[in-house]
Amino acid sequence: MREVGIGLAGFGTVGAGVYLNLEKNRELLRERIGCDLVLRKIAERDTLRPRPVPLPLDRVVPDWRDLLDDPSLDVVIELMGGIEQPRQMILEAIQRGKMVVTANKALLAEHGAEIFGLAVEKRVPVFYEAAVAGGIPIIKSVREAFVGNHFLRVRGIVNGTSNYILTRMAESGMDFASALREAQEAGYAEANPALDVNGWDAGHKAIILASLAYGFWVPSQDVLVEGIEKVTPADSRFAAQLGYTIKLLACIDACADGSVEVSVQPSFVPNGNILASVNGVFNAIAVRGDVVGDTLFYGRGAGQDPTASSVIGDLADAANALLSPRSFYGFVPHGLYGKLRPASEMVSPFYLRLGVEDRPGVLARIAGVLGEEGIGNSSVIQPESQEGEEASLNLMVHDATRGQMLSALEKIRSLDCVRGEPAFYRVEASA
Ligand code: NDP
Ligand code: HSE
Repeated sequence: MREVGIGLAGFGTVGAGVYLNLEKNRELLRERIGCDLVLRKIAERDTLRPRPVPLPLDRVVPDWRDLLDDPSLDVVIELMGGIEQPRQMILEAIQRGKMVVTANKALLAEHGAEIFGLAVEKRVPVFYEAAVAGGIPIIKSVREAFVGNHFLRVRGIVNGTSNYILTRMAESGMDFASALREAQEAGYAEANPALDVNGWDAGHKAIILASLAYGFWVPSQDVLVEGIEKVTPADSRFAAQLGYTIKLLACIDACADGSVEVSVQPSFVPNGNILASVNGVFNAIAVRGDVVGDTLFYGRGAGQDPTASSVIGDLADAANALLSPRSFYGFVPHGLYGKLRPASEMVSPFYLRLGVEDRPGVLARIAGVLGEEGIGNSSVIQPESQEGEEASLNLMVHDATRGQMLSALEKIRSLDCVRGEPAFYRVEASA
């Protein structure tokens, strides 16, 4: 039987999962693909450190360049994380005609145009299913299953760590730091967990999905990305009182003028919306196509085995491409879309939380400022407080642009009755 030689760079959480599951399901893969996926070499820089899965030392080489020098390797898997070393490795692999599998969303979001440009030029495919939503086959679905659709919109919970933290905080009142520690221990978090918390890991995934859906590389500097660091227990409580759950939501919309909106923001999701019940490490992505209508993908968005499942799926695709080549390199650019809509023009209802002096006329002044900006209130909650004390004013407002909200907030901040920094969140529609 034909063997496909594989080299792996990075034997961490995901790399070890690929190694274990390739061994475990070897027979099954052989039957299904009609060839043997043979993991011949593993590049790791530290061979002495004790690891949860022991390194198979007979296959270990100290440098990823050793993988590229080996003619018996047809495919290389990049699972080191980071940007510059993986970028060099992948570009060099393509130059040398070795197919690539990677889970590195940060790299693809920043350097996708360069990598896929070279892939097309050299006719060498790059596979990246694990880069978005762990074990959920969303890349293949958007690229292949929905090839006959214009994408109208995508909504996704695409970061397992932040969803895990929000869930633990809401369900068991756990503090932020302890919930993050649990996510790290479970292997969900990035080597630099700031990316999970500040929204950028989800941002990278939103950029990859939007780029794939609309055929142009979305510039990361123009994407609105906010993380979960600003979400307080009070926000979660008020959300619950109003019938919402706070989720870190990636939002991708095709606009009527042909531009595309891309953002990641903590959002008030109505409890009737199925995304509100996606908890823990689970991810979910709702895709609306002009032909298929509404679809929903759900599964584990991070962790050793789910991510390995996607990497192995890519290895099978690479083996198929090797055995029966076709003209597919991983990304197909086109010019039907191509413009990103500025974040200031994005429209949604908003939730606004303010600390204010508890005295007559305050609510009217706030409503007055909102009215000047053309923003209408839809509801107000002000928990009881003693006159003269600081009160918490919680408002829901009707559809407004983010630009209108920001300019209203600037005025509200300068009112002498407002205490501290106002918080605001976009509110997601119910379906
Ligand atoms: P880990 O940090 O657990 O593993 C990375 C491994 O690569 C470490 O053993 C690291 O060694 C090694 N490494 C780093 N640089 C080099 C190098 N230059 N040469 C050789 N080895 C190197 O990361 P994960 O397995 O969690 O993630 C890997 C990739 O997969 C990342 O891009 C991540 O974003 C992505 N991903 C992760 C998911 C998850 O659930 N964990 C899910 C989806 C994608 P050392 O420890 O010495 O630095
Ligand atoms: N750190 C990422 C997450 C890993 O928590 O979703 C999966 O991409």
